Amino acid sequence: MIITIDGPAGAGKSTIARLLAGRLGFRFLDTGAMYRAMALAGVRHGVAWDRPEQLAELAPRTSLALAHDRVYLDGEDVTEAIRSSAVTAVTRYAADNPQVREYLVRLQRAMAAGGDVVTEGRDQGTVAFPDAQCKIYLTAGAEERSRRRLADLQSQGETRLIEEVLADINRRDQQDASRPVGPLRRAPDATEVSTDGLSVDEVVQRVQEIVEQRRGARHPSDRL
Ligand code: DC
Repeated sequence: MIITIDGPAGAGKSTIARLLAGRLGFRFLDTGAMYRAMALAGVRHGVAWDRPEQLAELAPRTSLALAHDRVYLDGEDVTEAIRSSAVTAVTRYAADNPQVREYLVRLQRAMAAGGDVVTEGRDQGTVAFPDAQCKIYLTAGAEERSRRRLADLQSQGETRLIEEVLADINRRDQQDASRPVGPLRRAPDATEVSTDGLSVDEVVQRVQEIVEQRRGARHPSDRL
């Protein structure tokens, strides 16, 4: 079974997807980490960001692996490196690149093939897995998302003003929505869950209920 969780930056997708995958015994696919790792590969190879073909050529020559909640780029553990502000600032060059997207979507499908997966990102229910049995669209207001992002950054030792983080979230919402390929959209058959004012546990519970409903709906004859 494939469960997709899409939504804007800071809605809590990774936290929820990881916990849900743990509860269900499913694999967790963090596709944002894949775009981040591609951007880091670009930095390391010194690609020119105004020459998208350079990153497009580099993508299939890199080795990208997600295992045990760690991200590996060409065999090196880059889990922390891809979360830095410097990498975050250039990740859009990977996310806006149609060839990189095509390559990563293919990789995501290969990673999920035949298994039980919770996958999170922006285009998982719309582009990568349009036939997924259960699709969630996770949202929260921009202020709440900024507060959560600030807490995350502080826990990593970065000092920022809430105004800066909010401006950043608004900019990323704009980028995510206007991307010509793979933009952030709610799939028509996705269930929207607003996490405003809910605890992490409450959100996981709500999402798990939706998953159970969809599982039941898959085999209506089983319940006769
Ligand atoms: O979720 P995140 O912040 O780790 O994502 C990093 C970037 O990658 C973000 O700018 C949106 C982009 N992204 C994307 O375009 N498609 C996805 N499936 C996942 C992330």
